[in-house]
Order: sequence, then structure tokens, then C-alpha cells
Amino acid sequence: MSEDRQTVFSGLQPTGNVHIGNYLGALVNWVKLQDNYDTIYCVVDLHAITVNYDPAEYQKERLEAAKVLIATGIDPNRSLFYFQSQVPQHAELSWILGTMTPTGVLNRMTQFKEKAESAGSNLGLYSYPVLMAADILLYRANLVPVGDDQRQHLEMTRDLAERFNNRFGEVFPIPEALIPEKTARVMSLTDPTAKMSKSAPNEKSRVLILDSPDVIRKKIKSAVTDSEPTVRYDWDEKPGISNLLEIMSGCTDRSVDDLVSEYADSGYGVFKEAVAEAVVTKLAPIRSAYQQLDDREVARLMQKGALDARTRAEGFAQEIRKVTGLSAP
Ligand code: TYM
Repeated sequence: MSEDRQTVFSGLQPTGNVHIGNYLGALVNWVKLQDNYDTIYCVVDLHAITVNYDPAEYQKERLEAAKVLIATGIDPNRSLFYFQSQVPQHAELSWILGTMTPTGVLNRMTQFKEKAESAGSNLGLYSYPVLMAADILLYRANLVPVGDDQRQHLEMTRDLAERFNNRFGEVFPIPEALIPEKTARVMSLTDPTAKMSKSAPNEKSRVLILDSPDVIRKKIKSAVTDSEPTVRYDWDEKPGISNLLEIMSGCTDRSVDDLVSEYADSGYGVFKEAVAEAVVTKLAPIRSAYQQLDDREVARLMQKGALDARTRAEGFAQEIRKVTGLSAP
């Protein structure tokens, strides 16, 4: 790890299955950034227990999430990659940052309000953004690749870093979000006015990274569109088609304009088939990489990642304890 490289941090919750929104909104950038940055990626298993869960099932889901991330291209030899719960310094810093987070700020968090309404509220759900800030600030991260839905949490993280620095000295860099221009908010296939999400009850609303080609084709074929059969990029009038255009663009590296000029008058049937083929082609190598992974080997890599992360986090945590008056007497 060279000193002059900037540090990247990001996390993914191991709940449900990773979908193409996660992939195009965040993971594509996670993978790319490994080339030029000091990258730290975390399966945030403490964040995900803010909703009810089954412990035995959860152990498996956590490992599945790690395997999917490795299959998409996260390389544990190039990135620090581990389960959040295995590095207790995250929770420690979260407590410290919590003491400087006004409850008025937490009350305004959109994700909290949405989740509290659907899943019921608890203190963990409420202080979720503080733990997220701790994840990022613990490693002095400069850059945080995320989808659009994390924008507000990132703003709060930046405010907390400034507040901490003003009070205790220049400890944290102010982190920047890295949000893609397109595909920052991949929408549900069954309701293109809602975000594609891991937890929506209708499975047809999302394409999973590990879906078989047949399932992908079926889901895209049944994606909700509209009745005016021109392929046009227009989020107000044609959210379903605009979403598919972004998904196809993200999977082919062709611009939306280029796709519109090819498919404008080809009819929705032909266009949807092309979108499905683009997605199938993009995900096929990930699916086959996943199938080659050995659970025990991945578990071993995650343990090694946690050990390395703990060492690194402890160095930073000592400095934080020192400036806050909490170091060993
Ligand atoms: P999570 O697990 O919900 O999602 C992981 C990443 O996927 C992005 N994403 C999307 N992007 C585009 N379209 C969508 N429909 C879509 N759905 C999800 C998310 O923006 C995210 O980047 N709070 C975070 C996890 C977290 C974290 C962190 C992230 C915990 N600590 C520190 C960054 C830094 C979350 O719930 O992500």
C-alpha cells in the first residue's frame, strides 16, 4: 500500500441477493478503483441486523455476499476485504461520532424514515448512518463509490468529519462520494418509479447478479414500460424504457444516445430482447466465476482480510482515542 495513493472505502449489506442496481450503481466502480487506489471493501453485517433475521441463515447469506463480490471482481489480494463485525473499531468510532450527531439530523434521514415505516424502528436503524460514517472515517477514506441512495448519508459523514476536526484537530479528510452519472439509481422492473431494491416483495422487480440467462430474459421481457412504442430517453414520460436504456448502456459501455439511435423505431419486443442479451452477456462471466468459488477458501480469505483490517484500523483508532482523551492511561 503506497502512502500517496488515495483511500477508497465502500460497503454492501449482505441481505437478500445482490442485484444489477448494486452492480451498476456501485460495484462496477469498486472493481475499477482497485487499479489505482488503496481500496477497502466491507460486507457490512452489523448494518444489516437492524431488521429481524435468522442467525444461522445469516451466516450463510454473509458468505454468499462475499462470494458474489469476489465473483464480480473484488480481489482480496488487491483490496482489503472483510466482514464489518470482525473489526470492532467500526463500532467504537460509531459511538464516539454518535455523541456529536444531533438527533435532528438523524430524524431527517430518508432511508430511516422509509425503513422505520415498513420494518419498525429501533435504535440501530436510527443510528445506522453514524455507523456508516464510522466505516468511512475510520480509514481516513477520501473516496466512497456508492449509488444515488447513499448521497444523504455521505453528506452527513462529511459534516461529521468537519465537526470532529473542528473540535479535536485535523484528523479526517472530508470524503467525496463517487456516484455514476447514469445507473446511479437503477429502478424496479415492475415499477419504474421506485428504486430497484433487495427487499421488494416482487422478485420480478430486480435482476440478480446470479440469475440464470432464462430468468433474466423473462424478467426483462415482463418489465413494465408504456404504450407509446418509441424507444426514447425520457424519465418523465417513459421511466420504464429510460431505465432499460440505462441498464443496457451500463452493460455494454455504449452511450444511451447511441442505443436510442439504434432502437428508436425497432419496437419494444426487439429492444427488450437486446437489453436482455446485453445483461446476460455481462453477467455470464460473473456467474461462472461464482460457481468456481470454494466456500472454505472464501471464508479463509475473509478471516485473513479481517486480521489485516483490524491491524490497520487499530492504528487509526489509537490516534482517535488520543485526540478524544480516551487512550490508555
Ligand atoms: P446497500 O447494501 O443497500 O447497497 C450497496 C450499494 O449499491 C447501491 N445501490 C444502488 N445503486 C443503483 N441503483 C439501485 N437501485 C441501487 N440499490 C443499491 C447503494 O447505493 C450502495 O452503494 N448503507 C449502505 C452500505 C454501507 C456503506 C458504508 C456504503 C455501510 N457502510 C460505508 C458506503 C460506505 C447500503 O445499505 O448499501
